[in-house]
Amino acid sequence: MNITPLGAAVGVEITGIQLAELEGAALDALKMQVYENGVAVIRDQELSPDQHIAFAKRWGGIDVNPFFPTNSGWPEIAEVRKAEDQKDNIGGGWHTDHSFDQVPAMGSILVARELPPVGGDTLFSSMGAAYDALSVGLKQTLAGLNAVHSADHIYQPGGYYSKTDLADEMTGQELSTRAVHPVVIRHPVTGRKLLYINGAFTTHFEGWTREETLPLLRYLIEVGSREQFQCCVQWEPGSVAIWDNRATWHLAMNDYHGHRRVMHRITLTGEPIAA
Ligand code: SIN
Repeated sequence: MNITPLGAAVGVEITGIQLAELEGAALDALKMQVYENGVAVIRDQELSPDQHIAFAKRWGGIDVNPFFPTNSGWPEIAEVRKAEDQKDNIGGGWHTDHSFDQVPAMGSILVARELPPVGGDTLFSSMGAAYDALSVGLKQTLAGLNAVHSADHIYQPGGYYSKTDLADEMTGQELSTRAVHPVVIRHPVTGRKLLYINGAFTTHFEGWTREETLPLLRYLIEVGSREQFQCCVQWEPGSVAIWDNRATWHLAMNDYHGHRRVMHRITLTGEPIAA
């Protein structure tokens, strides 16, 4: 396994392995790379949808996202798609997947299927580095704080995603997604302290109004999206990215209008998170 850093705070690029065959100690080593670095992009893969699912199951369970089309024909695979004529993309703001679930997803395995000729990169940001950058005083304040997460405003008809490819999946039913998590969590494997809020799904701090929440939430979002905590995954045919949702945020760049982009995502089941 050849490993090269992608950014100072987050991300590694890996060559010299084939995910379709990876198991045992080599798979354990890859998992540690993801837990410690937040995201790993693995180049030159040949991974059919069946192999993608089989590989994901070697990490544990799969969380099927009910809001995404499964047009690939495999229910475990969410298709993250943007058509040539679509303006809005999926995942175009900083977020971490499924923070609105009681047990948020551990991570995701994203396989590039159709790429635009240029652009369409994905940015990642380190929530460990963002936490470390806060003052001692703010860390003390956050230590006692929980935040409420919801996806209703995103996936509801008329919601944020109603102009994306997910519009067809919107059922018209009232959504009710809600979870409360500590604002600072410990990574279940590495023990690192992580900032666990995000601009897409965190609505307010528990016991605070939205109005009271916004100034502090906006500040934390600004810290989390600082350039020095980021890395950029530039997709190539055969690239696969595996990220840890507890330790990172990500943002899909929307800079390839007029071109189609199709990615296959499998979301990996997590474990309960705690302060
Ligand atoms: C996502 O937000 O999960 C999608 C990321 C991407 O399409 O690059």
